[in-house]
Amino acid sequence: MSSSHKTLISRAVATLALSALSALPTLAQGLPKLKVGLMLPYTGTYAALGNAIENGFRLHIAEQGGKLGGREIEFVKVDDESDPSKATDNVNKLIKRDNVDVLIGSVHSGVAMAMAKVAKDTGTVLIVPNAGADAVTGPMCASNIFRSSFSNWQPGYAMGEVVAKKGHKKVVTITWKYAAGDESIRGFKESFEKGGGKVVKELNLPFPNVEFQALLTEIAAAKPDAVYTFFAGGGAVKFVKDYAAAGLKKTIPLYGAGFLTDGTLDAQGADAADLLTTLHYADSLNTPRDNAFRLSYAKAYKLQPDVYAVQGYDAAQMLAVGLAAVKGDIGKKAEFTTAIEKAKIDSPRGPFTLSRSHNPVQDIYLRQVGGKENKLASIASKALADPGRGCRL
Ligand code: BEZ
Repeated sequence: MSSSHKTLISRAVATLALSALSALPTLAQGLPKLKVGLMLPYTGTYAALGNAIENGFRLHIAEQGGKLGGREIEFVKVDDESDPSKATDNVNKLIKRDNVDVLIGSVHSGVAMAMAKVAKDTGTVLIVPNAGADAVTGPMCASNIFRSSFSNWQPGYAMGEVVAKKGHKKVVTITWKYAAGDESIRGFKESFEKGGGKVVKELNLPFPNVEFQALLTEIAAAKPDAVYTFFAGGGAVKFVKDYAAAGLKKTIPLYGAGFLTDGTLDAQGADAADLLTTLHYADSLNTPRDNAFRLSYAKAYKLQPDVYAVQGYDAAQMLAVGLAAVKGDIGKKAEFTTAIEKAKIDSPRGPFTLSRSHNPVQDIYLRQVGGKENKLASIASKALADPGRGCRL
């Protein structure tokens, strides 16, 4: 072959290669869109919680110009209905049919445990933006599973100390019979009984049942010094209203994990007045970071944020940290994980780091309802770390 033929052929090959590249703009310009599977409740008693999480998550991405680690984000959404029996199918569809790169979910502890099992088996990155199931950062922990929220143990444990210090001796607990309720009560009982109190009766009903009347009659008959409870979402609204309507608010002080009054105060009105709860967020932190977040959220959604919005926002912040470290290549699992493990997340709740089992180590606030706000009363527990029992990483 003559040298002029060789030149012609190599020019043609170069032209072909260039046109092939321009036919694949995503590859030429970098990585394709990152597919985020949002598995949250959009119906049922936890619907408002799912929406607030999505709002918070999207807000952080919008603040970053729509990209994390240089990649645009594409969402695939599933309404998990807070139904653990559908969770394994739902999460498998997101991974196998929709090929998501990351899973964000969910609110309900039973759903989150099913997600964690599949995430652990497949190695898919999972960030839990609410569900507190202790097992997720306990026996089910894994290097690819992170939580931006809390463990059920944390607010319960903090409140047990508060109630014991108030001098209450005899407490009745009431909650839904599933992991979140059971573990919140267990955390409360651990510190309350260490502080000299006694849980004399543990009442419960199936999730998401809200027929409280018979149980409220039992509380009145038991005459405890105080009641501790875990309810959230629509169920929390009904419980607080029924407790007041039964005349118990005036006679037996009610304490709760903060979900009892978060995102619910418009609907609870005066029946929630003065209630004391413990949580990793409050409406009146009045820090520059939280004020900026609250302003930005209110502008974007014409709504006030709540703890669920914060947890969604921080799930996106954690994802952003990991993706920035690997320049968008989430396949670089070790570097992605190490970056999140080492990060201090600049949360509206106050900065937090992750424990060895990937749960936030954070201040738990004592809040008191005043008007439409969960006002900061004090720090109930400083830098409280879930013990991560059973986690082997
Ligand atoms: C849970 O199921 O873990 C949960 C649900 C709502 C609020 C808090 C915890």
